[in-house]
Amino acid sequence: MRGPHERPRRLRTTPALRRLVAQTRVQPAELILPVFVRDGLEEPAPIGSMPGVLQHTPDSLVAAAREAAALGVGGIMVFGVPRPQDKDAGGSCGLRPDGVLNAALRRLRDELGDRTVLMSDLCLDEFTDHGHCGVLTDDGRVDNDATLEVYAQMAVAQADAGTHVVGPSGMMDGQVRVVREALDGAGHQDVAVLAYTAKYASAAYGPFREAVASTLQGDRATYQQDAANRTESLRELRLDLAEGADMVMVKPALPYLDVLSDVAKAADVPVAAYQVSGEYAMIEAAAAQGWLDRDRMVLETLTSIRRAGAQNVLTYYAVHAARLLQDQGR
Ligand code: PBG
Repeated sequence: MRGPHERPRRLRTTPALRRLVAQTRVQPAELILPVFVRDGLEEPAPIGSMPGVLQHTPDSLVAAAREAAALGVGGIMVFGVPRPQDKDAGGSCGLRPDGVLNAALRRLRDELGDRTVLMSDLCLDEFTDHGHCGVLTDDGRVDNDATLEVYAQMAVAQADAGTHVVGPSGMMDGQVRVVREALDGAGHQDVAVLAYTAKYASAAYGPFREAVASTLQGDRATYQQDAANRTESLRELRLDLAEGADMVMVKPALPYLDVLSDVAKAADVPVAAYQVSGEYAMIEAAAAQGWLDRDRMVLETLTSIRRAGAQNVLTYYAVHAARLLQDQGR
């Protein structure tokens, strides 16, 4: 009997061979760790739906940022959680230099300098009492253009505080342009814009709402994208690039790898993907039951997101993955 002419298994024979021919690698330098800093906390607090992730105090945040940088993680994305009494309809504490997010950015930049890439979420939902990503009209709709004015001020406040990269995540039309213009107008030409380009209205943000103590009633379907749509993301990409985005992002990651692949093919800037809170929670929940192997699942999902075209991945597993990769000697 003649055996098969082609034997793809030959290149899978040993770990060394598999490593040699691997087309996709995950490296800590390409990962970005999202972190939460909460005002008024005395001790870091666990987040029930995100086991292993903490709401930080300013001190524990600095320690976490140092740890991530020491492990070679490429950057951190900071989210601020204000005290409930500091929230208002306009999200004013996101603008104040001493607001929880801006104060944390200043401290991180002071202590870490340029050793990591410091990124900040540029959005209103953490700061508004109604929990929407923008300011509202009298009849309760999210007012696109009035929100843009607030984003512009927020961008400058974050840049003044020392962020390297702002991440406008509110899905308002025209947000990248106003943010770019505001930064340039304030002398922050070198602060980059990571645009949340394709951001879908997703159930996978559930645990994040707990992490930032969101008060949102209802949903974000009038500004975030509908899961049914694909080419719309190419339109969002075209607009964000024309408006001056330095990097673009697709979010969530795993349920949207087709979109990620499309965007990665069409973009001439670095493309990131966000493995969001619900993606993290799904792995954690199944692993806690013993239903799957956490570490293998972490590396497999990150590899898949990279393979689909993301250069950078925002993931709550950034530090964990960096350790796993170190242990594997890759
Ligand atoms: C908006 C924002 C959200 C996330 C990142 N930025 C929440 C939302 O759009 O509802 C979600 C991230 C995650 O789920 O991990 N500021």
